[in-house]
Amino acid sequence: MTVQETGPLTTEAGAPVADNQNSETAGLGGPVLVQDQQLLEKLARFNRERIPERVVHARGAGAYGTFTVTSDVTKYTRAKFLSEVGKQTETFLRFSTVAGNLGAADAVRDPRGFALKFYTEEGNYDLVGNNTPVFFIKDAVKFPDFIHTQKRDPYTGSQEADNVWDFWSLSPESTHQVTWLFGDRGIPASYRHMNGYGSHTYQWTNEADEVFWVKYHFKTDQGIRNLTQGEANRIAGEDPDSHQRDLREAIERGEFPSWTVQVQIMPAAEAAAYRFNPFDLTKVWPHEDYPPIEIGRLELNRNPQNVFAEVEQSIFSPAHFVPGIGPSPDKMLQGRLFAYGDAHRYRVGINADHLPVNRPHATEARTHGRDGALYDGRHGGARNYEPNSFGGPAQTGRPLWSATAVTGYTGNHEAPSHAEDDDFAQAGDLYRLMSEEERERLVANLSGFIAKVSRDDIAERAIGNFRRADEEFGKRLEAAVQALRG
Ligand code: HEM
Repeated sequence: MTVQETGPLTTEAGAPVADNQNSETAGLGGPVLVQDQQLLEKLARFNRERIPERVVHARGAGAYGTFTVTSDVTKYTRAKFLSEVGKQTETFLRFSTVAGNLGAADAVRDPRGFALKFYTEEGNYDLVGNNTPVFFIKDAVKFPDFIHTQKRDPYTGSQEADNVWDFWSLSPESTHQVTWLFGDRGIPASYRHMNGYGSHTYQWTNEADEVFWVKYHFKTDQGIRNLTQGEANRIAGEDPDSHQRDLREAIERGEFPSWTVQVQIMPAAEAAAYRFNPFDLTKVWPHEDYPPIEIGRLELNRNPQNVFAEVEQSIFSPAHFVPGIGPSPDKMLQGRLFAYGDAHRYRVGINADHLPVNRPHATEARTHGRDGALYDGRHGGARNYEPNSFGGPAQTGRPLWSATAVTGYTGNHEAPSHAEDDDFAQAGDLYRLMSEEERERLVANLSGFIAKVSRDDIAERAIGNFRRADEEFGKRLEAAVQALRG
């Protein structure tokens, strides 16, 4: 329900307000009175307008849209929203940057979040991805340390090149993603002109419970457009909201951005012998191994009406699956299955799932969970336990996804290494794919940042990782850093 924009101004309790310009005083020029409900209520409410910003991806913009199935994938998954060519599902997508705070500029070198909610008839399915097919690390236990180096230093209060490069150089698995980030795609021109990726490997299960491993790709139909570092520096200063404004205005103009949705599909039996660990988030599956196949089209066609209610309070969780889709054993993904719900309960509250943007739109949530702060009483007097003899909602007995086999002992194990797994080969492949001009920009972007590192050993270790990816890459970087450091 939208509140009427006409009629008398009221207090929060709906009583008419006589004066919204002058607070109430004891006599002319006297002190202000505690009985002035309008003043006290306004000041108190104002103090509570903010909720904690997201610990990462604080800065973002969202839009509603439609996902349409364009090819038959029923032999791979029994997810109902994917069950028929032509079938449409409502979606909400929140784009974001990662490191900046809520008020940060959009045009910066940083991965972009691509968090997509499908409001399916079997519940909401969230695919919480980025505009990059890979990530910096491959174990969730390293995530808080990694983010500490991207965010503000406890002493200086700013992002510090020393911390960033110390961590990256000591985490050589980041070499692939860092090469990607400092290349041309590291600063998209807008949210519309970039791809999205599920990044992790996920499980699809069909009606016969056969298992497939999948990776999602959202290819922009607008074409890829990027900013150079110089262009980004200018735009970040002139229009910090550049991405947010671009998205909203394009939709207002009726220019609905769209993405062609593709998946790479690996039959489960092929995972064990694949040349890379298929659950390693720092690696792609080369397209010659598993060619992407088109499955749908995503269009964004409706702006949120209230940014706080629909974007700031929106929540996405990699643990929000629907029947026929589930997690892989990727150790990063496993950590994320916990982290997001926990963040939502802290940031938005225990009833976050029931806000209009977050609740299922094509079905309803029928839980026995109750109460908590700001509970709206949606269950009325219905019984709140299961099993019950009164026809209440009951478990189905059918898991959403298939079981995975495990062997061995518990322990702090590294993810298994496959024949061609190392931290550098795919970074080198990416470098060698680039044109000479792209390589020049990559080396300039990287060297500009590494040159800010105060300690030679950290700078040398950082360059060493790129040298291991590609000898020439390392040499050029070393020369460029030396030239800048003098
Ligand atoms: C173990 C690794 C990770 C952890 C612990 C983690 C944790 C978090 C947390 C706590 C939030 C804030 C959620 C909220 O307050 O609503 C968040 C947001 C987000 N993360 Fe991660 N993250 C991880 C890795 C990743 C990866 C690998 C991706 C992409 C492939 C990703 C994409 C996102 C996106 C897109 C958002 C913003 C969601 C939104 O728009 O509300 N994260 N992450």
